[in-house]
Amino acid sequence: MNPLDLLLQRRSHPSRQLLDPGPDADQLRALVEAALRVPDHGKLEPFRILGVRRDAGRVLGERLAAITARREPGADAATLDKDRSRFDRAPLCLIVVAKLVEGLKIPTQEQLLSAGCVAHNLLLGAQALGFGAQWITGWPAFDREAATLFGLDDDEHAIAFIHIGTRDGDTPDRARPSFDAKYSEWQA
Ligand SMILES: Cc1cc2nc3c(=O)[nH]c(=O)nc-3n(C[C@H](O)[C@H](O)[C@H](O)COP(=O)(O)O)c2cc1C
Repeated sequence: MNPLDLLLQRRSHPSRQLLDPGPDADQLRALVEAALRVPDHGKLEPFRILGVRRDAGRVLGERLAAITARREPGADAATLDKDRSRFDRAPLCLIVVAKLVEGLKIPTQEQLLSAGCVAHNLLLGAQALGFGAQWITGWPAFDREAATLFGLDDDEHAIAFIHIGTRDGDTPDRARPSFDAKYSEWQA
């Protein structure tokens, strides 16, 4: 086995093709504990994870659709249905929350990157446990009213919605960037 196999085989699985079961309680704990082992300049721990199970996700989706309906009175049914289904497509969605504090010695860019590493670890970890996963965002990741729905503080941002479940079939891979295209060496 190639020690890089987990990385070499990593791919997303469409969130709408993620079925029950999702991770059980032990798998979830193990996944989250592993995912939290990220590089963290200043040991600020600028991240947390908010789990949304499908039933709760339905409620969240209704509330997101209500926001859209209020802001866009002419929104069509498909738009509202999309909002309704943002958090109930897989058995579990893990929202990665980044806490970005200005004015510290560690720039917010680095705080955000640490939180991003948590999100990527969740993708890899879910795959290592045999599940499929996909990182989704969309407008609720960038909207303060949605942030309030999630229960976030003012300096917290939902940077990733990691949907996790049992893969419905295999996922064809896509072309990946090559070594030759992406690697070069600095020369004096
Ligand atoms: C920050 C971030 C946000 C993303 N948001 C979405 C999204 O909202 N919808 C979507 O279809 N894919 C989104 N993606 C892309 C998918 O997670 C995934 O990378 C893509 O389907 C390609 O699959 P791959 O991970 O196997 O390369 C996002 C990726 C990143 C890194």
